[in-house]
Amino acid sequence: MSVTVRAPAKINVQLSVGPVRDDGYHELVTVFQAVSLHDVITARAGDGVSLTMEGEGSESLPIDDTNLAVRAATLLAQYAEVEPNVALHIEKSIPIAGGMAGGSADAAGTLVACDALWQTGLTRDELADLGAQLGSDVPFALFGGNAIGRGRGEQIMPVLGRGQFHWVFAFADEGLSTPAVYRQCDALRGDAPVPEPYVSDLLLQALRAGDPELLADVLHNDLQPAAISLRPSLRTLLEAGVEYGALAGLVSGSGPTCAFLVRDDEHALDVAVALTATGNCRTVKRGTGPAPGARVV
Ligand code: C5P
Repeated sequence: MSVTVRAPAKINVQLSVGPVRDDGYHELVTVFQAVSLHDVITARAGDGVSLTMEGEGSESLPIDDTNLAVRAATLLAQYAEVEPNVALHIEKSIPIAGGMAGGSADAAGTLVACDALWQTGLTRDELADLGAQLGSDVPFALFGGNAIGRGRGEQIMPVLGRGQFHWVFAFADEGLSTPAVYRQCDALRGDAPVPEPYVSDLLLQALRAGDPELLADVLHNDLQPAAISLRPSLRTLLEAGVEYGALAGLVSGSGPTCAFLVRDDEHALDVAVALTATGNCRTVKRGTGPAPGARVV
C-alpha cells in the first residue's frame, strides 16, 4: 500500500513582524495564501523511517533525521504510539530556501501521508499541533486556503475569500536563510521601537472581494527590506516585474522568491515571458491561489 499527498507552497500576502520574544522568535501577524505549486509526498510501508527525494536542488538536502519530513514521521509515530516504519519519497517543485515554506509543506504532507498509511486517524487540529512543534509554517500547510497566522505564524485562523488570484513567481539562483533575514530585519530596525504586528482590514476586504487590483495596493512584507539588503538584485527584479505590467510584486516570506500579482492567466503569461527574458532569475512559474492544504490524492 502507498499513500500520495500533495502539499502546497505559500506566499505571505501580508507579513507584519513585531518585536522579538523571549524565545527568540518574532511575534507576527501574517496573511498566508496557499498557491498551486506543490511538493508530492509518497509514503509506503518501510523498515524504520527512510527518505528519498527528487527535483531540482533536492540533492543538497539532508535525508537523515535532521530533515523536517523525517522528523514529522517520527513525531507522529511517537504521538500515536505506532512503530515508525515508513519509506518516504518527496518530489520537490517548491524552491529550496525560497521563502515559500517548501520544507514545511514536506513536513505537513508527511504528517497527512503517515496518518493515512498508519491509519492513526488524527484530526487536522491534532496534526497542526504536531506541525507547530516542527516549524512555524507547518500548520498553515495543513489547512491551506487563505488564513491569518499569529504567534510565530503557527496559530491559524481561516479567512474568507472569493475566486482565484493569479501570480507569477520568480525563483532565485540561491536561497536565503530565514534566520539570517530575520536577524537583518532586527539590524535594520536598530533601537527604534517596534510596533505590535497587525492585520490590515483593507487586505482582508481585497481577499473577500477577490479583487486583484485592490489586493495589489495592500500587499506588504516587513521582511522585504531585509531580504533586499541581503540580496540587492531583488530590488531590480521587483521593479522589472511592475515595469512589465504586473499589478504589484513582493518578496515571498523571507525570500528570495518574488511573487507578482497579475489580473488573469493571459496577463501572467505576458509577465512571465518578460521576466524570463531579463535573465535576472533562475526560473519563472505561473500559479494561482488560494490552493487547498496538504491532502491525499
Ligand atoms: O519556525 P521555523 O523553524 O520555521 O523558523 C525558522 C527561523 O526563522 C527561526 O529559527 C527564527 O530565526 C526565524 N523566525 C522568527 N520568528 C518567527 C518565525 C521564524 O524569528 N515568527
